[in-house]
Amino acid sequence: LARGQAVLPRATAPAREAPAQERLTIVYGSQTGNARRLAEQLARDAEATGLAVRVVRAGAYPQRELKAERLLVVVISTQGDGDPPDDARGFVEFLAGKRAPRLAELRYAVLALGDSCYPQFCAIGRRVDARLAELGAQRLLDAGEADVDIETVATPWLARALHLAREALEPATVRSATMTPLRAAPLAPASEWTRARPYAAALLANQRIVARDSARDVRHVELSLAEAGLAYEPGDALGVWPTNPPALVAAVLEATGLDGDAPVAHDGRTLALRDWLAREREITRLARPFIAQLAERARSSELNRLLAPDRREALATLLASHQPIDLLREHPAAWDADGLVAALRPLAPRLYSIASSRKAVGDEAHLTVGVVDYEAMGTRHVGAASHFLAHAGYETQVPVYVEPNERFRLPADASRDVVMIGPGTGVAPFRGFLQERREIGARGRHWLLFGNRHFRSEFLYQAEWQDALRDGSLHRLDLAWSRDGARTYVQDRLREHGRDLHAWLDGGAHLYVCGDATRMAKDVHAALVDVFVEHGGVDRERAEERLLQLAEEGRYARDVY
Ligand code: 2AM
Repeated sequence: LARGQAVLPRATAPAREAPAQERLTIVYGSQTGNARRLAEQLARDAEATGLAVRVVRAGAYPQRELKAERLLVVVISTQGDGDPPDDARGFVEFLAGKRAPRLAELRYAVLALGDSCYPQFCAIGRRVDARLAELGAQRLLDAGEADVDIETVATPWLARALHLAREALEPATVRSATMTPLRAAPLAPASEWTRARPYAAALLANQRIVARDSARDVRHVELSLAEAGLAYEPGDALGVWPTNPPALVAAVLEATGLDGDAPVAHDGRTLALRDWLAREREITRLARPFIAQLAERARSSELNRLLAPDRREALATLLASHQPIDLLREHPAAWDADGLVAALRPLAPRLYSIASSRKAVGDEAHLTVGVVDYEAMGTRHVGAASHFLAHAGYETQVPVYVEPNERFRLPADASRDVVMIGPGTGVAPFRGFLQERREIGARGRHWLLFGNRHFRSEFLYQAEWQDALRDGSLHRLDLAWSRDGARTYVQDRLREHGRDLHAWLDGGAHLYVCGDATRMAKDVHAALVDVFVEHGGVDRERAEERLLQLAEEGRYARDVY
């Protein structure tokens, strides 16, 4: 507090909340919890240096207060195809819209999170950053753009943002660090096991839960959290750090002609190249920086052209369909081991919605794992974590941590009805929901809408749902089979039973959607709009508003990816 010491805390007792001109406001828009985690970390660090801080999730931020802010940090992620987190939609739209105020007195900084596997990398954060400037606000520092190896960019960016925030607020506001910190929402207590320090869970079960003749493999995986004190709530996700498939590591070594035993020093650590590739680098997912490196090394004008702004679509297709190995084979280049490690992104954990309730299964976490495994360009392509889990044996230790998802929670009131829409592996959290509600003897009813390709081979957890129907813990089950004759999707069932659905929602039911974000969640949303129009007697615009309102009340929650 070198500079702050000159400024004594004001004699008056601290207000419950510091006035806008004296505090740092941090707004976060988070889908999977990373933006929230970083926002809370910044809040803690800022409070530790004596700043008055208010940290608010975007969905709860009172928009009319924006024009009073003097110092704002926004931490916001971008979903796969360029969407804001569900909870931040209103905030982003408000900023973009005509009602957004002039912000000439605001100083701000934006930390954008994204995934460079997608061409719309950090699009939402960039948009917020540009728009705030357009509204007259003054940028404290350039927007940070963090890729899935979040900390690489986020840690130095947050430190810099905090430094500049302190300069901006001082000397008016730096308080004695001993004063009670002020904040809008309580910060979650940090668990002992984190993304950076995962718990090595023992594997208890790994069963295929689709018939042998199903074209796709789906696994039910049970992990032991014995004595780890790793608490989770139904709705939370489990972060899994995979080990890359050994055959793919070997293929990358072969394609580059490099020696797997060669020691490589990078980021202050020295590991054999093989270990970098197996445990530290993404080799199942392609990202733009790797293409740029390869384009340079292979002097490929074709690859260079792909990186041009007008080739977005082509790049998106390439990123979605290829793995680094495909390009390494197609574009032979001279690689050195250090260069390869530097060009590939750090490995990131994969999130799986937890499919169990601790009240029902004790110190275990269950997962429903769709195994990514397909042929393309003449070779097999597998997903890192699903391959790792599908091949895990009882000796395998699975590094895991809990990623809380506070927006995907059962109603606090157990007499509320619950509607769960989860086709495919999207059904996972609803197994946990049902276990939980059965254990607490919830009075509310449960309606599950599940879909998959084939009734006979892909009816995930069929016996469990049927038991639940029998014992009354599941009130209603509607099924949609997409490849047994007529193509039926869950949204067709929603429309078909629109009257009932509307009645449930009218009666206060909470609605949950889990699964594919790009197509399913959008189509389901459209079906919900139709249901309100048809059975609620409102126009489309009002129907959208009602859904937004339900979302704000926590009664329309999505866990989509
Ligand atoms: P499909 O693969 O036959 O198209 C889980 O993957 C289930 O979700 C499958 O039955 C799949 O059908 C279906 N599905 C695919 N696209 C969908 C969409 N846009 N909306 C709802 N379900 C979809």
